[in-house]
Amino acid sequence: MTTEEVRRAAIREAGFNLFNLHAADVLIDLLTDSGTGAMSRDQWAAVQRGDESYAGSPSWYVFLDAVRELFPFRHVIPTHQGRAAEKIIFTVIGGPGKVVPNNTHFDTTRANIEATGAEAVDLPIPEAMEPANPHPFKGNMDLAALDALLLARGDDVPAVFVTVTNNSGGGQPVLLENLRGVRERCDRHGVPLFLDACRFAENAWFVKQREPGHAERTVVEIVREMASLVDGMTMSAKKDGLANIGGWLAMNDDEWAERARNLLVLTEGFPTYGGLAGRDLEAIAQGLREVVQEDYLRYRIRSTGYLGEGLLAAGIPCMQPIGGHAVYLDARALLPQIEPLQYPGQSLAVALYEAGGVRGCEIGTVMFGRHPDGSERAAPMDLVRLAIPRRTYTQSHIDYVIEVCAAVGGRRERLRGYRIVEEPRALRHFTARFEPL
Ligand SMILES: Cc1ncc(COP(=O)(O)O)c(C=O)c1O
Repeated sequence: MTTEEVRRAAIREAGFNLFNLHAADVLIDLLTDSGTGAMSRDQWAAVQRGDESYAGSPSWYVFLDAVRELFPFRHVIPTHQGRAAEKIIFTVIGGPGKVVPNNTHFDTTRANIEATGAEAVDLPIPEAMEPANPHPFKGNMDLAALDALLLARGDDVPAVFVTVTNNSGGGQPVLLENLRGVRERCDRHGVPLFLDACRFAENAWFVKQREPGHAERTVVEIVREMASLVDGMTMSAKKDGLANIGGWLAMNDDEWAERARNLLVLTEGFPTYGGLAGRDLEAIAQGLREVVQEDYLRYRIRSTGYLGEGLLAAGIPCMQPIGGHAVYLDARALLPQIEPLQYPGQSLAVALYEAGGVRGCEIGTVMFGRHPDGSERAAPMDLVRLAIPRRTYTQSHIDYVIEVCAAVGGRRERLRGYRIVEEPRALRHFTARFEPL
């Protein structure tokens, strides 16, 4: 436990950047759902079975089978986490003059594309930019916009990506029908399609619940259909792998896979372990078996919905419908007195920490406002993401979070903006330092 006075000192010391805090000074840590979940008994048991042979470890084959059970790609390339898979695939297919569309690129995906000199383009449906609009599949890609891009620049597009669920767009799902539509367009232009599949199981659960015609199918069947519509995937096992570390890159193309493995050996490791220990491979394999269990998914999605419903009832504007892994507070709507370039999301995130030790994450102009040409523009939305670690917090913790948000909402007029006093060239939200205005 910490007092408000202690937290105010801690966040000032951290340059008003929640990433700079000591985690021990955080009471409820909703910074991310990535790698922060609790592993199950059976995952810990699997860790004990980890075989640490350098090449061809039995744990590698356990991992490979578990991945292919859901995603039967010819090549599976293990990495230490999702961004390592991104770095490798975009080094292979990116470069100056190339353009990579996505429903919405996650920050590391965008950064890895831009680091090669290529352009990252977001093509979400227009409803995705309206936080209060309860459209049930806000993760969908705008098919007309994709058509237009492929017609104009098809030769420059090495692959189309679809992120499930759409993290930066609010943890919102993508319809199978939309994914089929993307596939058709990719086929017409001869362009491969990849999934950023971090939250594939949560996406499949939403498909089962909301997309007509899928209620009777199992989550595994829906996941396999998602896999059958694409040519490859990047994955962070820190989300729907239910593990604390890990990821992979998978694809069918032999030539791309060979180039990817050559890069893997340079920075990650031998192709049968990537950046992972044998015990990590075992934990992920077991996690993949657990994450598609429907009792788990029902509990997971309902508990996120519980937080969202509590916040809406307390008058806090949230992105709707409530997403899978997180609730997104609409800081721009809550704090209209703060201009986007004075970072309303940062202001709200700092206030939640000061008031109750709750750590969320700004997803807005701080994260997306700085462009490769050096200019700064308001992001389409200014949100604060409260991401829920898997199988970690209890309902009483979540009730406390609702109380803290309601208390901050009650003094919203007093919140002020921030300015950035120090920032790195890329991914500035991780290390920038701020000052209150
Ligand atoms: C949609 C999405 N893609 C990629 C990543 C990157 O994965 P990692 O953090 O394992 O590098 C994340 C992580 O949060 C993500 O949410």
